[in-house]
Amino acid sequence: MSLSSLTFDYVVILAAGKGSRFYSTLPKVLHRVCGQTMLERSIRAVSPFVKKELIIVAGYGEAHINEELSRLRSSFPDIKISVAVQEEQNGTGHATKVAVDGIAENETEGRVLILPGDCPLIEAGVISEFLAGISSNPFDVLSFQPDEPKGFGRIVRDGDNFLSRIVEEKDCSPEERKIKEVNSGILAAGLSLLRKYLPKLTTANSQGEYYITDIPELMKRDGLSVGVVKSSDPYLVSGANTRLELSRLEARRRQMLLEELMREGVTIQSPDNTFIDEGVFVAKDVFIGSGTRLYGSTRIETGCVLEGDTLIKDSEIGENCLIRLGSYIDRAKLGNAVSVGPFAHLRPGSELSDGVKIGNFVELKSAKLSSGVKAGHLAYLGDVEIGAETNIGAGTIVCNYDGVKKSKTQIGSHSFVGSNSTLVSPVVIQDNSYVAAGSVITKEVPSGSLAIGRGRQQNYDGWVDKKKRKS
Ligand code: UD1
Ligand code: MG
Repeated sequence: MSLSSLTFDYVVILAAGKGSRFYSTLPKVLHRVCGQTMLERSIRAVSPFVKKELIIVAGYGEAHINEELSRLRSSFPDIKISVAVQEEQNGTGHATKVAVDGIAENETEGRVLILPGDCPLIEAGVISEFLAGISSNPFDVLSFQPDEPKGFGRIVRDGDNFLSRIVEEKDCSPEERKIKEVNSGILAAGLSLLRKYLPKLTTANSQGEYYITDIPELMKRDGLSVGVVKSSDPYLVSGANTRLELSRLEARRRQMLLEELMREGVTIQSPDNTFIDEGVFVAKDVFIGSGTRLYGSTRIETGCVLEGDTLIKDSEIGENCLIRLGSYIDRAKLGNAVSVGPFAHLRPGSELSDGVKIGNFVELKSAKLSSGVKAGHLAYLGDVEIGAETNIGAGTIVCNYDGVKKSKTQIGSHSFVGSNSTLVSPVVIQDNSYVAAGSVITKEVPSGSLAIGRGRQQNYDGWVDKKKRKS
């Protein structure tokens, strides 16, 4: 097979619908499956097959779609991605016509792949399978047989088993409703054929919309045949019109991702209660406790123990780290053998070098901690750099915000900040120094010195007895 027969000149993703059955202000195709929007999954699936142009039909929530596309474009530098705007959402036939009308008129020969943007589990293998099954028909449909055909367009075959028409559920006769084989919405057609038949569609149906699914019947009347390729995996092509359907399909994808990790040597304590996004990397010999959520571009290196009930987002966790119960880690970077939690909060910009220990109820934000730093209990460390082997006592607070602007604090290496100290930024604590417990530090602490910044204790002998006598 030549390369051109393995691609489509134009690929159209229908993404203009509101998704009324989602009851959402966000366009349906921007709802997520294991961290990726349905639109992103669709684009990833078709990307190997686009020869000239990928056309996204947008309408409802167009600005949101454009925002998502500007995020995604850099991942597909070799593909021309354009947007065709469908002002009014008058059906899948109308949406396809909007896309086709935007293709230059002198293009006459191209082949077009059309797919709905609401196939949550779509992947490139589906398109390969479809392509492999396509023969020389001017129009091909990818069908499938779900457990429950409710809501899908039915594939009606004639006595010779050829497709005679696709009928939407709302327009089905009781007999047609019993048909189990349904339309996936993934279709392939010649550009010239679409140009001929799209204008012939009418809204004479129960929803008053232009259905692309009416084309086969019109073709049949003209003596043209339509091919049907049946998908081997109904879940990969199944559409989601409700949040319930999306959630069921997502659960399936999640299970697949977890099974893949387990096969590769990751222990997952409770797969039913573990949520790992598409694209998260987990090395072998990692233990993932119940209630773990790993989102975005997170990487967990080998030997880590994640006790559970933890959320880690867009973060890098080095080898042999211990993330104890109930920790929340967002855009942070951890070296090797770092210990965090229980109940710690690492906010964006936290960088923890090898061997750092963060204990319970410690919050970090833009904090760079060199190797061996310990902050064991109840601390806030924001906009701070801390040198190697320094100990931060319980209750230390870095006052990084004066109500107007944020400032930085620097704490040197091999230093000791006593418990319940308040470090008022900007301030520098040099290497090898001590801060006495309960101090308020407002000026530089020189290297090798002890800083005490608090009222002195005075004891008054016999004070209690005197007070009693008075009263
Ligand atoms: C459609 C098919 C149905 C098929 C099912 C598979 C039609 C008429 N029906 O039904 O045969 O079994 O998909 O999942 O094609 N869209 C637009 N503009 C519009 C309307 C829809 O861009 O005016 C987009 C939607 O955003 C969505 C896709 O087209 O991504 C499909 O629309 P949807 O309303 O979900 O169609 P279904 O009722 O699921
Ligand atoms: Mg749908």
